[in-house]
Amino acid sequence: MNAVDLFRLDGARALVTGGSRGIGRAVAEGLADAGCDLVVTARTLSALDSTVRAVEDRGRKAVALDGDLAGPGVAAALVDRAASALGGLDVVVHNAGTLPTAEDGSPLLLPLQHAEQGDWETVITVNLNATAAVCRASHPYLLESARASLVLMSSVAGVVGTPMMEAYAATKAAQLSLARSLAVGWARQGIRVNALCPGWTRTDMTAFASEADVLSDWLTSHVPMGRWATTDEVVGAALFLASPAASFVTGHALVVDGGLAVPDGGLAGHPKPSSPFAAA
Ligand SMILES: NC(=O)c1ccc[n+]([C@@H]2O[C@H](COP(=O)([O-])OP(=O)(O)OC[C@H]3O[C@@H](n4cnc5c(N)ncnc54)[C@H](OP(=O)(O)O)[C@@H]3O)[C@@H](O)[C@H]2O)c1
Repeated sequence: MNAVDLFRLDGARALVTGGSRGIGRAVAEGLADAGCDLVVTARTLSALDSTVRAVEDRGRKAVALDGDLAGPGVAAALVDRAASALGGLDVVVHNAGTLPTAEDGSPLLLPLQHAEQGDWETVITVNLNATAAVCRASHPYLLESARASLVLMSSVAGVVGTPMMEAYAATKAAQLSLARSLAVGWARQGIRVNALCPGWTRTDMTAFASEADVLSDWLTSHVPMGRWATTDEVVGAALFLASPAASFVTGHALVVDGGLAVPDGGLAGHPKPSSPFAAA
């Protein structure tokens, strides 16, 4: 046995939600490198073109599907359409997720006591309810697979306290719980379920912070490695969980965060600027 081959997924049929950019796109490309054919999803069909091209450039099949996970029945329909397009599913990486968003599209960072209940519900709908729907709809397809792996893209925000993002953090913690419960329930059915918890990663979702010096310095001051992750740094962990390399790994939350969740990562001793949210 060549251990590197354990990371191969030749001919596997994979669904990556939120595959148009950021972490999802990087994971889709990584799975294609490992030999997967892919369905990638997002709300904006045209935004998936470059991922489709990147997967096809790797010699693999790629299908783009659009759908807003906030819509009733959309998550389950996307899974069914994906399975139909690929003739089944072996790997599901449910990656799409959102922060609370203001009307102008910018992230709405407010402490819970100042946030509207409607903002809470939007985040719960997309990040948690759609996750449950994706898991439920994936089950019959994964049941038919000899190498079934479901990976939920949670976050370090589900592991550590994350002020100003309470709804987001609660959904990410709920994804960890769901991954553990499903892992136990589906273990004898041959379906592995794991969660991946990236730390602060440079993507469109986090541009509001990574491109703002004060906020970026404050956030990275809490990261022992002292910097943002790149999307490529999340891919290896996703591939590990999806592949036979993790054949005895289920119910795990794999944290990829530069040490942020290590208690007490703050002891790394980086100078701590005062919080930009101190007055909130
Ligand atoms: N970036 C980080 O620091 C970080 C850290 C930890 C965990 N995560 C998690 O990693 C995942 C990806 O994050 P990212 O930073 O790569 O985000 P991103 O750059 O904003 O990309 C999000 C992806 O999800 C899709 N999407 C968003 N809302 C959707 C909806 N309502 N219905 C369907 N698709 C939707 C987006 O496409 P459309 O806009 O076209 O729909 C896009 O493809 C999320 O679950 C996030 O919580 C991110």
